[in-house]
Amino acid sequence: MSEKITFTDPTGEGKPIELETFKVPSSLSDYEQRKSKIPKPDPHYVDLGMLYRLAAIERVRRSGVTDTPLHVALRGHMGTGKDHDLEQFAARLKLPYYRIPLTGEVRDITLIGSVKLHGDGKGGTESHWEDGDITRALRGPALVNLSELNAAGAETLFALHGLLDRYQAIDLPTGETVRLRDDTRVFGTLNPTDLRDYAGTQTLNKAFADRWVIWEKVFPDADQIEAMLSHRYTALKAPFITTISRLAVEVNESFTSSDARTRVGTPMSLRTVLDRVPAGLWMYADADDPLRRSWEEFVLSHIDPFDRDHYETVWSAVARTGPEGPPFE
Ligand SMILES: Nc1ncnc2c1ncn2[C@@H]1O[C@H](COP(=O)(O)OP(=O)(O)OP(=O)(O)O)[C@@H](O)[C@H]1O
Ligand SMILES: [Mg+2]
Repeated sequence: MSEKITFTDPTGEGKPIELETFKVPSSLSDYEQRKSKIPKPDPHYVDLGMLYRLAAIERVRRSGVTDTPLHVALRGHMGTGKDHDLEQFAARLKLPYYRIPLTGEVRDITLIGSVKLHGDGKGGTESHWEDGDITRALRGPALVNLSELNAAGAETLFALHGLLDRYQAIDLPTGETVRLRDDTRVFGTLNPTDLRDYAGTQTLNKAFADRWVIWEKVFPDADQIEAMLSHRYTALKAPFITTISRLAVEVNESFTSSDARTRVGTPMSLRTVLDRVPAGLWMYADADDPLRRSWEEFVLSHIDPFDRDHYETVWSAVARTGPEGPPFE
């Protein structure tokens, strides 16, 4: 039996949303494999509001008020947690999760499928159809995450137009039509191209963009970063948590600033804040200034040389020297 789960609004404004989880039918030929693709809940995940929002649109989908399914694409800068949100949404709803990166190299045959030749054992060859990544995912309940939507070439995207609009299907060259099941959800993620360049990305083709509901994912604020850090590193002392959060917020504010002379060129991603800086604090726990050492070796070493001055300006404004160690209780 499927169970009911509740999504609560972290801002406390909206009412809790109750949704039934999905179920993988045991009759599917890839049952075991598909079930193994249901993600595990991440104990360190903090819902900053995105899960609740995704639950809200899921409820609208299930109520059948719209004719064409609503496909959501999350647009935000590197390391703001877009893919992680979708993965955790799949985990909550018990949906097998298929993350399909659309790099510039990906061709429609990789996504849709192709005819493969192989020996027939009698000296000749036989041909058979082999599903591509998307077609395979669509064969059962799935949360398909087309990540880096704006890195794919236009021809690749055209192959997906029919799937994403009212037609809701892909026609295979074999004559088969693969329809979008009502227990399959298609999502996407992309980086914004308006503000800064991300190598290999382009502005989204307008007809393609029109098939999505695009939601912006902004940088987390200081309270949110503090919540994520203290949730994950329960022994990390408060002055470290507040200083790291302020550094990240200031760097990211500078990144979005309009003044080209002083702004930083690389944001401080959640990977830097939640993974690398704490790793540095462990490493340099006994140093005179653990946060400074971590900053030098896990933050500054990651950015372009021309950005060092901008990052150091933020450091001086926020910290000058780091909090007194050791960082962990
Ligand atoms: N809400 C959250 N709570 C806790 N950790 C999070 C949260 N969101 C993201 N993270 C962590 O931040 C890191 C970056 O997340 P993710 O890979 O989803 O970013 P992204 O937006 O997809 O980045 P990119 O555009 O570079 O692909 C991950 O290590 C993830 O564990
Ligand atoms: Mg990503």
